[in-house]
Amino acid sequence: MSDQKRIPQHVAIIMDGNGRWAEMRGKERSEGHIAGVEPVRRSLRAAVRHGVKFLTLYAFSTENWGRPTAEVDALMELFCQSVVNETPELVRQGVEIRMIGDRSRFSPKVQEHLARAERQTARGETLTLILALNYSSRDEITRAVRHIARQAADGAIVPEQIDERTICEALDTAAFPDPDLIIRTSGEQRLSNFLLWQASYAELWFPEVLWPDFTEEDFDRAMEEYARRDRRFGLVSK
Ligand code: IPE
Ligand code: IPE
Ligand code: MG
Repeated sequence: MSDQKRIPQHVAIIMDGNGRWAEMRGKERSEGHIAGVEPVRRSLRAAVRHGVKFLTLYAFSTENWGRPTAEVDALMELFCQSVVNETPELVRQGVEIRMIGDRSRFSPKVQEHLARAERQTARGETLTLILALNYSSRDEITRAVRHIARQAADGAIVPEQIDERTICEALDTAAFPDPDLIIRTSGEQRLSNFLLWQASYAELWFPEVLWPDFTEEDFDRAMEEYARRDRRFGLVSK
């Protein structure tokens, strides 16, 4: 395997364990989310250092709306603050921000902040940071199916023409390659409705560390672990 192949082009992270981190310290869950901002910076630095081109972060699932209102409100405020505060540094680092998920459910204020961050970072060429916000795979696939059905009903495509590519192009991730490595912190070993279609051949890694404690060294360990994996894609090893 060439060195190039030992570095994942696309890393996706399920940032989990903020609530437990806070509860262990007798703090509000929202404090855990605030403490989860610094590890985002660390991961981004490490990803750039390793030459990763796409970093997807699962920040809010469609199911997370069911959490207590105070926690949801605190998360919305944190998203706005973070994108506003971080954008200048992201521009400096050459990071482009993109989003996946259904943002129509966010308030106009949140939507405006997100759209502005995308516009201001649009020229970044070092790394694409993809934020999964109000995202779930089943919701994404449902919206994609609706889109394809509409095209068929309009006569723009015939059902026999629909192939994997048609589906990929209708997903929120159309512009991005599939993730090579998915990391989920906090020891939970599940995908929780994250990139189900795109993860077909992703390598998975489940470190015990809670997200607020995730360090650049943890990211380095993930890269070492990935480099050891033998990705066969259904074929036989060379
Ligand atoms: C992940 O941490 C952040 C979000 C889901 C927004 P959690 O809030 O799920 O933390 P735990 O799993 O309860 O510890
Ligand atoms: C997945 O974590 C969603 C995000 C990290 C944003 P959850 O904490 O919501 O998932 P479950 O409930 O443990 O499966
Ligand atoms: Mg959780």
